[in-house]
Amino acid sequence: MSPLLYTPLEIKSLTLKNRIAISPMCQYSAVDGFANDWHLVHLGSRASGGAGLIIQEATAVSPEGRISPEDMGIWKDEHIEKLAAINRFIISQNAVPGVQLAHAGRKASSSSPWNGHKKLDAAQGGWETVAPSAIRYSDTDTLPVALDNAGIQKVLADFKAATVRSVKAGFQVMEIHAAHGYLLHSFLSPLSNERTDEYGGSFDNRIRLTLEVVDAVQSEWPKDLPLFVRISASDWAEGGWDIAESVLLSKVLKEKGVDLIDVSSGALVPYQKIPVEQGYQVPFAERIKEESGIMTGAVGLITDATQAEEILVMGKADLILFGRESLRNPNLGLTFASELGVEVQWPKQYERAKLK
Ligand code: FNR
Repeated sequence: MSPLLYTPLEIKSLTLKNRIAISPMCQYSAVDGFANDWHLVHLGSRASGGAGLIIQEATAVSPEGRISPEDMGIWKDEHIEKLAAINRFIISQNAVPGVQLAHAGRKASSSSPWNGHKKLDAAQGGWETVAPSAIRYSDTDTLPVALDNAGIQKVLADFKAATVRSVKAGFQVMEIHAAHGYLLHSFLSPLSNERTDEYGGSFDNRIRLTLEVVDAVQSEWPKDLPLFVRISASDWAEGGWDIAESVLLSKVLKEKGVDLIDVSSGALVPYQKIPVEQGYQVPFAERIKEESGIMTGAVGLITDATQAEEILVMGKADLILFGRESLRNPNLGLTFASELGVEVQWPKQYERAKLK
């Protein structure tokens, strides 16, 4: 029997040639939100390297929704042209281009990791951050402004407009970023959301913004193309968002027509306690799949072909996302095939290097 990792995955009208996805990873290399040749080479080489799905980094729906000034963006039409060129290359490699639409919320306005990942003030090119409530991420952070109703409506309009541009840019998979302590996650978690209006308090109220963003995206995203939502399945902190609420949310998202939950965790609060080990988030993907019946993507310290194959064979997830391992090995879609004894097509330019 051929390995599941190389069994095509059909989602709506789209077929991924394998179950290897490149996890979205910020490159902190854009200027004014514009993609450039770094992004073409980074994303393009992972497409020629055999992954079935390439999900572009967190891509800001508005300038204030960027983590750093160097984040990729899709808040104006001028951004579309380069993204479309990158996507054409990805498709030419028989891979599928996906985009992760994001708003960084209270974690916005920070410097890139190699500049210390510090909050930027106005003099340093920073901006005022927004959040469900005026609660700092950490003691050294600036205080975010609680979004009022007009602010929430702007977020929804920004996601909608960004979706229109994503379609024009030729993306074929849409992922909404509702993880890692960014805006949507910060509404989900009671640790960052102390609102007393219809967006805070009860579970139904805390998930409201995420659901409204899903609606806004679905109003423009083609019905026959896949829609993913990335969540943090646990805050890894007492009193925080947890796996039980993640299962409930996943059920609601499935009802709404979301196709797959990309299951990450953490990053809402700095005092989280994560028991990091190989595949440590896989049990969350497994439980969400089992209890809500939706497809899941597993991510986090999945680093080799056998491990990935086992997750699929055990029915714990439908798709495997690779982050750092794909930075070490851009060709993992090709080399994993050799390890599992599967015949895949290498780019003709690389045929002479093909592993037997
Ligand atoms: C990330 N991660 C991440 N996640 C996300 O949802 N959107 C993003 O833009 C980024 N950016 C990012 C940049 C870099 C350099 C790294 C290393 C990570 C998290 C990433 O997608 C993945 O979930 C984690 O890295 C865990 O998977 P691995 O790396 O253990 O395979």
